[in-house]
Formats: sequence, C-alpha cells, structure tokens
Amino acid sequence: MPRQILLNPGPVTLSERVRRALSAGDWCHREPEFAALTREINAALARVYAPMAAEFEAVCLTGSGTAAVEAMLANFAADDGLTLVLANGVYGERMAAILAAHGKPHELMQRDWQAPLDPAALAERLASGPRVTHVATVQHETTTGRLNDLDAVGALCREHDVALLLDAVSSFGAEAIDAEAWNLAALAATANKCLHGVPGISFVLARSALWQALPGRAGSVYLDLAPYYAGQHGDGYSPFTQAVQVAFALREALAELADGGGWQARRAAYLERARRIHAQLSELGVATLLDPADYSAVLWSYRVPDGDRYARIHDALKAEGFVIYAGQGELARRVFRVAHMGDIRAADLERLCAALERSFGAGR
Ligand SMILES: Cc1ncc(COP(=O)(O)O)c(C=O)c1O
Repeated sequence: MPRQILLNPGPVTLSERVRRALSAGDWCHREPEFAALTREINAALARVYAPMAAEFEAVCLTGSGTAAVEAMLANFAADDGLTLVLANGVYGERMAAILAAHGKPHELMQRDWQAPLDPAALAERLASGPRVTHVATVQHETTTGRLNDLDAVGALCREHDVALLLDAVSSFGAEAIDAEAWNLAALAATANKCLHGVPGISFVLARSALWQALPGRAGSVYLDLAPYYAGQHGDGYSPFTQAVQVAFALREALAELADGGGWQARRAAYLERARRIHAQLSELGVATLLDPADYSAVLWSYRVPDGDRYARIHDALKAEGFVIYAGQGELARRVFRVAHMGDIRAADLERLCAALERSFGAGR
C-alpha cells in the first residue's frame, strides 16, 4: 500500500523530519527547556513574515485554529467599539458567532459563499453609520478556496483607522500578508496547515503595543491571553498544560519552512501543485467552482460532475491513497475540495493524476 496523502485542509501529510521531531523526548512543560522552546517558537512565528518581526509578538495556545480565532476576538475586539465582520463562507460566519457568544458589539456584512467580499459596500459603511473600530475577516476562506482581496479591504481599514483582525488559519505561511498596508492589529493561525506541523497548537500574532495594553477581560478563563502573554514573554511558562510533542513538531516545521525558502517558496510549490491538478481535472471535464484566478494557492474547489456523487469520488481516491475533502453546508453535495499543503512530492502528484484519471475517466 503506498503512503496516504492528505488533500484535506489540514492536518497535512508530515515530512519525515517533522514526524521524527514528535518523539524528541519526554519533557515537562514547567521546566526551563520547555520555556526556552516556547520562546523560540514564538520568535520564529513572528519571523515568518520578515516585516512583522519588529512589531508583532506571538502567543501559543493548546487548541485548534478556532481556539486562536476565538482568543483573538475575545481579547482584541472592543467591548466599547464595534467590530464589522466581512463573511463569505463558514469561517467568516464563525467569527460573527464567536463575537455573539462573547457579547461583543458587532455587525455582519454577509456575502454569498461564492461571492467575493465587497470593498465598495465596506467603504460606504465605514464612511457612514456608527463608528466601526475593528474589521474581522478571513484571508483564505477555506469553504470555497477563495483568497479574499485584503489589499482592498486593508487599504480601507488603514484609510479609516480601523484595526484589522484576521483569521489566517489556512493561509499563514503560504500567502502574502502586508501588516502595514492592511492596518493589521492581530491574526490567528494554527500549526497544522500551511506551516506543516501537527494539530494541537494554534497561535495569535498581535502588535506588541496591543499585548501590553491587554485589559485581561476576555470573558473566558482558558482564552484570556493576558496571562499567556505575561508568561510566555516573561519566564516562558504558560498558564495551562502545553502540547509538548506538538511543540517539538512545530519547531521543526518552522525550521523546515525557513530552510525551504519561507512562505514565498511554499506558495510557489502549492501553486505548482494546484496547476497540475487543475490541468488534469479540466482534461477530465471536472470544472472549478470559482474562477481559477480567485483561488488561493492552498486549496481549490471543484464541482461534482452531474450524475456523480462526492462519496463515490472520495472512496475511489481513498482506495488509491488520497484523502480529498467534502464541501460544507449548502455545497456539501455539489463540491469537493483539494488542498495542496503538506509533504506532497512529485511522485505523489503523478500518482494522484493517474488516480484522478481512473476515477473520472471514461473507463470508470
Ligand atoms: C479559515 C479557517 N478558519 C478557522 C478554521 C478552524 O480551524 P480548526 O478546525 O482547527 O478549529 C479553519 C479550519 O479549516 C479554517 O480553514
């Protein structure tokens, strides 16, 4: 049986280097060596985008991507301001649900899942009505694979002095982030997607000035980032038990990212995979959900061909060692998704293309 390749949007197929790091040792999270590791990881996270390193600091949490998004919103969305959520998929809508759960003042600008964000409507809203203090949105809406146009959204945030809170869970490490141009205040992301670590650690990167001014009123004990920041950037310890082995893997994954040329090289590798898979699927008559120009490098969505079923496609590919991903909500029956993250080698890609041909080809 060939190795299984994950084409779902995280967890990803691990490199041998990261897999080996998982068993680096039995460490206690309250010993100085783990405190040093925490500081090392936080510094490396702040360096993934070089221009951010001087202004931003990271805090790691034991939890999935949603934990980091919730922590970011609970700590940085203002109680005495107004957060405008721009949503065009599951994860934008989840940001609004989190703000509602925390009783934070917010408005939702809801778009169809297949539509881009609407900068003209945003400009209009920022220019009139109750003052917006924060905009919350998703960089790569994994629901469809759309890379939202943050140059347009971020320019408006800067123009109107509105702080941007970004869900970069499925883009951090593989898409461009321009913190200055976008007036970025904070972002949330995770170890197990474009960074190629394993699930269990997520993190918030925020401007140092914001960390230092944290009021410590997060409406949550576990997700109150004030003690995390004080601990991880003080003696290096965290308030709660940390995912020690996941941290070993994340350190290695960050080193591997840097050794391989950083986020730009990773993005280029993903794009090459995207183009190869897209070329194969188009030849087999399988259409994309969105215009190819709208996709991220990380994940593309395809229409389930008329008369076919997601479950059949999934099972046929899984039998050949490839795990694809279903659509969500209203797209569940109509769409399948293919992510390009993880340790996917040229031979895996060729094997995948052959499997796609068998799965979708005339002879099936
Ligand atoms: C953009 C985005 N935000 C948030 C999440 C939630 O992450 P998790 O499932 O790790 O909580 C995901 C998961 O795929 C995502 O793609």
